[in-house]
Amino acid sequence: MSATTTSDKCKWQSPSNIALVKYWGKKGFQIPSNASISFTLSECHTNTELRWFPSNHSDIDVYFDGALNPNFKPKVAALLGHMQEQYPELTHYRFEVHSTNTFPHSSGIASSASGMSALALCFCTLLQEQGVLKHDFLQEASYWARIGSGSASRSVYGGSVVWGEHSDFEGSSDEFATSFRHVHPVFNSFQDTILIVHEGEKSVSSTVGHGLLKGHPFADQRFTMAQENMSRIKTILENGDLDSFVELVEFEALTLHSMMMTSSPSFILMEPNTLNIIQKIRNHRKQNGGHITFTLDAGANVHMLYPEKDKQAARDLINNELVALCANGRYICDSVGNGPTQLEC
Ligand code: DP6
Repeated sequence: MSATTTSDKCKWQSPSNIALVKYWGKKGFQIPSNASISFTLSECHTNTELRWFPSNHSDIDVYFDGALNPNFKPKVAALLGHMQEQYPELTHYRFEVHSTNTFPHSSGIASSASGMSALALCFCTLLQEQGVLKHDFLQEASYWARIGSGSASRSVYGGSVVWGEHSDFEGSSDEFATSFRHVHPVFNSFQDTILIVHEGEKSVSSTVGHGLLKGHPFADQRFTMAQENMSRIKTILENGDLDSFVELVEFEALTLHSMMMTSSPSFILMEPNTLNIIQKIRNHRKQNGGHITFTLDAGANVHMLYPEKDKQAARDLINNELVALCANGRYICDSVGNGPTQLEC
């Protein structure tokens, strides 16, 4: 088994992503109730080194920022367990995972997408080195990233990425993400300034939130609507129609949070300053035109999205009005990125 292994460690840097049409609700095991599409980011990423040691007792330890972190172990061990069922070769090792994030851990930015995709890429590298990987490398990495965390499936590719079967997107699948390349150039350099409204853990995890769609009174309408919005965003991304982009992306963000607010039990992840920022972005657009818009993930932070042409206007808006609404004045400047890269160990 280890005869064909050429090294005993590998390292990947993998980015976070921000969904435009949201994944919210699952069926079966890690299968999305509707298709979703995201921009992969370029600055917010996880660096993960996987080390493996031949052993009769398979186990995995997770180190974060240089320290053993037992809190991260259950999800990482669960992913390894699923992979070992398909790839018994992985039962012959003890593993160490060494991860760091380039964005502050306490910022409330979702790290599962970058973390799980980096980990899946590392495991797939080991399997590829052993010559046992069954499918295309990135497709497998996306498949296993999805098992770790649904949105992580999309972080394996750069640019605009679709996860979930949809008849308008050729080759799309519930099991892994695919790259959507027919995008107008304006979206290749789109900016995402993440305005940190709330630092630290959110009160309800995404996994719990997804579960609350079971029996939700509006769930079926939501899933149908999301599929329709996928058709709409495909045309928007192809044509570079920024007015329609703004309308659809804000609608998706607010629909996501309205599904949370109408779950049973209901929950609210937005904070007062989330709404204050949204109002200021909308007022700014009303007064100045342009295409500065927003989306939200499952948290209080606001992702302010805008085309490169609006960069100066966005900078002024942040400095004059929004920075005062951010926790400790913090925000992160990001933009659409090219996807993961393998690093030297
Ligand atoms: C609101 O991918 O974090 O960000 O599959 O349970 O790990 P699990 O959930 P997760 O959910 C992400 C939800 C979202 C929308 C999105 O990214 O599409």
